[in-house]
Amino acid sequence: MGIKLFDLTGKNAFITGGAQGIGKAIALAYADFGANVAIVDLDMEKAEQTCSELREKGVKALAVKTDVTNPGQVDDMVRTVVGEFGGLDIAVNNAGIANLNNAEDISYEDWLQVIDVNLNGVFLTARAAGKVMLQQKSGSIISTASMSSSIINVPQKIANYCASKAGVKHLTKALAVEWAPHNVRVNCISPGYIGTELVASMTDYLPGWTEKTPMGRIGSPEDLIGAYVYLASDASQWTTGSDLVVDGGYTCL
Ligand SMILES: NC(=O)c1ccc[n+]([C@@H]2O[C@H](COP(=O)([O-])OP(=O)(O)OC[C@H]3O[C@@H](n4cnc5c(N)ncnc54)[C@H](O)[C@@H]3O)[C@@H](O)[C@H]2O)c1
Repeated sequence: MGIKLFDLTGKNAFITGGAQGIGKAIALAYADFGANVAIVDLDMEKAEQTCSELREKGVKALAVKTDVTNPGQVDDMVRTVVGEFGGLDIAVNNAGIANLNNAEDISYEDWLQVIDVNLNGVFLTARAAGKVMLQQKSGSIISTASMSSSIINVPQKIANYCASKAGVKHLTKALAVEWAPHNVRVNCISPGYIGTELVASMTDYLPGWTEKTPMGRIGSPEDLIGAYVYLASDASQWTTGSDLVVDGGYTCL
C-alpha cells in the first residue's frame, strides 16, 4: 500500500468550525491529500475565504452556514454536503468555544453554552453523519476533544470546558462500539495548547503554558495535521474508539 495508505483522493469530508484555526488547517491538509471539503461554520465570510483556498488546490469546496447546536440545521447541512459531493466519507466535529470563570461564579447560561457547542454539537453532527455512513457501511468520524478531557488546565478556570471535552472523549467510545459492526470508525483527537483565536484572550497564561510543555512551546494548527489525516485515511482502518493526544508532552506530567 505504501504512501497511498494516507491518500484521501476523491473522499468527501465536512469540518465544523472549519473557517479558521485548527479546522482550517485540517481542511487545507485534507485538500492536499485529495479530499473535497465542506466548511461548516457560523462565520460565512471566513468560510468562503477558506473555500477559495481549498479550490486553488484543485478540490471541490463548499461553505455551509450551520449552528452545530441546532439539530435541524445540522441535518440539513449533512443533506446538502451529500447532495453536492455525492457521499460522505469523513466527518470532523471540531467547532468549539471556551469561556473563563470560577466554577462557583459561572452563570448557568455560560455553563450551558459551552456544553451545547462542545458536547451537544459533537453529538448532533456525529448522529447526522453516522446515519449516512451506516447506510454506506463506511466512514470515519473524528471529533476534536482536548487534553482538557483528561487533565485540568491551570491557572485558568474552565470547568465547563473540561467537562464538555471529557464528554466528547467518552461519547467517542460509545459511538465507536455501536457503529463498529457497520464499518464506521469514530475517534477523537486531544490537542494541547494551540495558538488560535480561541486562546487569543489568554496571552497572559502563555509563558506558564510554554514552561509546562515538555517540548518547550505551544503548538500550531499545523502540528495536528498528521493526526487528522491518519484518522481520516485507510492508515487507521483498524483504529476506532481511540483518543489521539497531540500535546508536546503536556499530559505526561
Ligand atoms: N486552541 C487550543 O488550544 C485548543 C486546544 C485543544 C482543543 N481545542 C479545540 O479545537 C477546536 C477548534 O478550536 P480553535 O482553537 O481552532 O478555535 P477557533 O476559535 O479559532 O475556531 C473555532 C471555529 O468554530 C466556529 N464555531 C463556534 N461556534 C460554532 C457553532 N455553534 N456552530 C458552528 N461553528 C461554530 C467558529 O466560528 C470558528 O470558526 C475546538 O473544539 C477547541 O475546543 C483547541
